[in-house]
Amino acid sequence: MTAVRSLEFVEMARLVRAALGQENRYAHSVRVARYAGLLARRHGLDRGKARTAGLLHDLARLYPKARLLDECEARRLPIAPYERAHPVLLHAKLGAALAREEFGVTDGDVLSAIEKHTTAAPVMSPLDCIVYLADALEPAREFAERPRLWRLALRDLRAAMREVLFLTMQHYARKGVPAAPPTLEAAAAFGVAAPGAATKEACASN
Ligand SMILES: [Fe+2]
Ligand SMILES: [Fe+2]
Repeated sequence: MTAVRSLEFVEMARLVRAALGQENRYAHSVRVARYAGLLARRHGLDRGKARTAGLLHDLARLYPKARLLDECEARRLPIAPYERAHPVLLHAKLGAALAREEFGVTDGDVLSAIEKHTTAAPVMSPLDCIVYLADALEPAREFAERPRLWRLALRDLRAAMREVLFLTMQHYARKGVPAAPPTLEAAAAFGVAAPGAATKEACASN
């Protein structure tokens, strides 16, 4: 990464900090950017795109339910029944809209990674996987398998996707929480046997 691009990242981080207005969420966003960048470098992908998507992925995460619904409706973004039932899921697609509107992101790869970071999706690019995995496996996520899964992600993105999706669904199957349809579709697409569950977003407070 050039010095100019690093400066751009620092400036973007300053704006994200102000937009989020909460240090915990900002620190999480910076960690996701850092870990996405590490995965991108390891897998020969665009580190700048990974870091940008990681930094911006949770722009709407702290919005209350009513605001998520209102802002998606104002932009005429489609809202599926499962999203209306669980509006927190909308922070991914609204976050992509905010990245475009407020940060001038026009890169479809970056916007896709932001939009898919919560539920995953049946079709995911390597960049989509990197941001999803960085969000799931950044070091503040506290679950026993995290260090092993991070090492796996450094070696094999698809294998790590399978394991994270499996653990996510297993966790929610135990809780009896229904899966978001894109998560089930992602699990099927990645070849994960579904115990029937939901999304990693609901699985962690951050
Ligand atoms: Fe999120
Ligand atoms: Fe996140």
